[in-house]
Amino acid sequence: MTARLRLAIAGVGNNISALFQGAEYYRKLTLQGVAEADFVGITRPRIGGLGVSDLDFVAAFEIHPNKVGKPFDNAVLADPNNYPILDVTLPKVDFIVDEGFTKEDSEPGSARFKAIVSRLREAKAEVLLYSLPTGLQWALDAYARASLEAGVAFVNCTPDIGARSPELLAAYEKAAVPLIGDDLASHLGTSVVHRTLLGLLSERGITLASSYQLNFGGNEDFRNLRDHGANKRDSKINALAQDGVDTSNVEIIPSAGYVPHLKDSKVAMLNLEGLGWAGTPVSLDLKLKVQDSSNAAGVIIDLVRIAAAARRARLGGFSAAATRRLKSPAGGHPKFTPEIIENSFNQLDATPVR
Ligand SMILES: NC(=O)c1ccc[n+]([C@@H]2O[C@H](COP(=O)([O-])OP(=O)(O)OC[C@H]3O[C@@H](n4cnc5c(N)ncnc54)[C@H](O)[C@@H]3O)[C@@H](O)[C@H]2O)c1
Repeated sequence: MTARLRLAIAGVGNNISALFQGAEYYRKLTLQGVAEADFVGITRPRIGGLGVSDLDFVAAFEIHPNKVGKPFDNAVLADPNNYPILDVTLPKVDFIVDEGFTKEDSEPGSARFKAIVSRLREAKAEVLLYSLPTGLQWALDAYARASLEAGVAFVNCTPDIGARSPELLAAYEKAAVPLIGDDLASHLGTSVVHRTLLGLLSERGITLASSYQLNFGGNEDFRNLRDHGANKRDSKINALAQDGVDTSNVEIIPSAGYVPHLKDSKVAMLNLEGLGWAGTPVSLDLKLKVQDSSNAAGVIIDLVRIAAAARRARLGGFSAAATRRLKSPAGGHPKFTPEIIENSFNQLDATPVR
């Protein structure tokens, strides 16, 4: 039997609520006798021998007063998290959520840094999932350094620079610890839909005149991205350009608005204007509506299993298997062909079970 994945969390927001509740949803299906191959909403039932509900949450770091000092299973449902409550009986996970980094206390050698490293070690965490609001580069640096010091694999959900930092990547490679990032490519998100449509126009010989992508929603991520959307915009452009699509006439607004009553639903409006035969116009408008944090969790579940399997195999640095689940992978998309990605999955799946 493969040992369950010991997961630590930085930032107990909506992504984590979706992951925690979702893992339980799949455990319930297993108890009901549903075969893994029949699970809905899963890309890969097993990675490195790990199933989608083989997660143990073992430590968490936060700064929000509704979450710090609270049992994890309470914190994950606390305001302002607004992911829906799923129809599952949640397990008791009653370790206490610890105080995370503040800007003033984030240097290696600070008391908080030492406390976070020793908590990760004491919890025997294998992976630290970094899921803070976008735009806190100092925080990403601090958590990534603490994770490395503790020998724990790091997964960056945000568009802030983690695995794309050559210096950080080299340090993780040297220590044989995995570093997976940056920025989730959501399960069926705007980027993959937009990229597919742009590719379709190009394949059919329609010349793109202009295109836009407007995103809005009612969770904290959209509130934050209204003001801190620059990295997100760049990362979304990386995701569109990954198959050689020309993005020079494409405009992206990561958060065109915070609409509270949408809660954790996200709406994206896509428009593509093109020119066909004899310069006559072609126009395409599309509305996509998704459960935003399910869209994240459906990908996070693969990234954390990739990170854990790579750590168990002592494969440090970036893992090619993670490429298509990220908007801005270390080294850029063109480096990773489908064959390289599949070989990487095969290598992780061949890791001896422990
Ligand atoms: N589909 C998606 O939802 C999606 C896709 C791609 C990327 N992302 C990124 O994932 C990240 C998390 O998204 P979310 O919806 O869970 O956000 P969220 O705002 O719900 O959660 C972030 C959590 O981090 C906590 N936090 C803030 N500063 C902290 C610190 N110094 N230490 C510890 N915790 C701290 C906040 O209190 C909050 O609980 C965002 O950066 C988002 O852009 C999300």
